[in-house]
Amino acid sequence: MTLEKVLSTIDDNLPAATERLMELLRIPSISTDPAFHDACEAAADWLVKDLASLGVEARKYPTPGKSMVVGHVGDRGPHLMFYGHYDVQPVDPLDLWERDPFDPEVQDGPDGPVIRGRGAADDKGQLMTFVEACRAWKAVHGSLPCRLTFFFEGEEESGSPSLIPFLKEHADMLRADLCLICDTGLFDAQTPAITTMLRGLLGEEIIITGPNKDLHSGLFGGAAINPVHVLTRILAGLRDEMGRITVPGFYDGVPELPKDIQAQWEQLGFDAAEFLGSVGLSVPAGEAGRSALEMVWSRPTCEINGIIGGYTGDGFKTVLPSKASAKVSFRLVGTQDPHALRKAFREQVRAGVPADCTVEFKEHGNAPASVMPTDDPAFEKARLALSDEWPRPAAFIGSGGSIPIAGYFQDILGVDSMLIGFGLDDDQIHSPNEKYNMSSFHKGTRSWARILAALT
Ligand code: BES
Ligand code: ZN
Repeated sequence: MTLEKVLSTIDDNLPAATERLMELLRIPSISTDPAFHDACEAAADWLVKDLASLGVEARKYPTPGKSMVVGHVGDRGPHLMFYGHYDVQPVDPLDLWERDPFDPEVQDGPDGPVIRGRGAADDKGQLMTFVEACRAWKAVHGSLPCRLTFFFEGEEESGSPSLIPFLKEHADMLRADLCLICDTGLFDAQTPAITTMLRGLLGEEIIITGPNKDLHSGLFGGAAINPVHVLTRILAGLRDEMGRITVPGFYDGVPELPKDIQAQWEQLGFDAAEFLGSVGLSVPAGEAGRSALEMVWSRPTCEINGIIGGYTGDGFKTVLPSKASAKVSFRLVGTQDPHALRKAFREQVRAGVPADCTVEFKEHGNAPASVMPTDDPAFEKARLALSDEWPRPAAFIGSGGSIPIAGYFQDILGVDSMLIGFGLDDDQIHSPNEKYNMSSFHKGTRSWARILAALT
């Protein structure tokens, strides 16, 4: 049977596929840092070339930010679009990495070999599972199974600023019957998953200025206002003692979880103690009376992602700083409106800034939450295909992360997305020593071959 042949081709070519992924991982395509702009373009060029080797007509489309890579192949059967992102997160703190983040290596791990390096799991390794499945398919069949559009973005980790204009301008080129996105996780190492709910994201930076220069905290302390104190009071006020977010109107559009989904999630046997224990914690934080799984998959949150201000170097400096700033993100669910919440958040911050200080805001992306249409027959076909590959049957799960494009595809192109990925909670995405299990890469590639067979 030809699917078996495709699967055995994937098995035979795993070392070569791994080597190709290593090449891509060596390119430091950090999208948020302008110093790595050329590296992002180099990653896009690498992908154009790699797609060309599959007979896909691909090219870069420049944007005001990073280039998009779009490729097309085939003219029969359903039209599937595949999306992944080639940009990665910054690597700091660099001293916590065991090796150069852009000098990837296959290492032995407690659960088998892992590919270690920035972007291994998020999202270069995942992106290549689909590409490698196509390569094996083509080697066996001489062509790909249906009409395919490949769409790779280089700004996902920095809030996709060029994406909406690009989708609007190229809607006809990108419109497909269904989009496949490989940027999410397994439920656990045995259980594959289709992610059916993603949280939205609202990012804000607040910069508070007090005195017009840094001051001696002895000469001025007490009389001069300290912007770090102003900032921290405002930040502390964002949550009340029950863990609820205090921004007015924040819970408008936050639904209670439907009973059927709640029942499905309960059956997954999620172990909250193990989830928290894996990061050295034991007591659930956040909203009182909500389970850890519920808080991550279906409740909104507000997190301070960074605080900058004053002297943070070695030793001690008695400074009263002129400026203090913070980066804050909100994860959104249901129909929470990122634009309305940005406005309400800014009003709340302004109300906490005393007369002698000024505040500036910078916007860092806004995307509503998305819920996928699981009644589309493609979901059941993919669920069965995944269940054939992995030890346990596939689950429909939620996710606390955000992939803004899923909502944009729906709103701008009218295209639904199916989110299937092979990452694990211990992959350390966005953190030092990111890794992707070789089994994720290998079985992920085999999974896509099975899904392609099921959908075409
Ligand atoms: N791949 C992640 C999101 C993710 C991870 C979803 C694991 C589900 C499981 C994605 O690249 C990511 O990190 N997105 C950012 C969004 C962004 C606008 C910076 C996020 O969720 O923080
Ligand atoms: Zn990602």
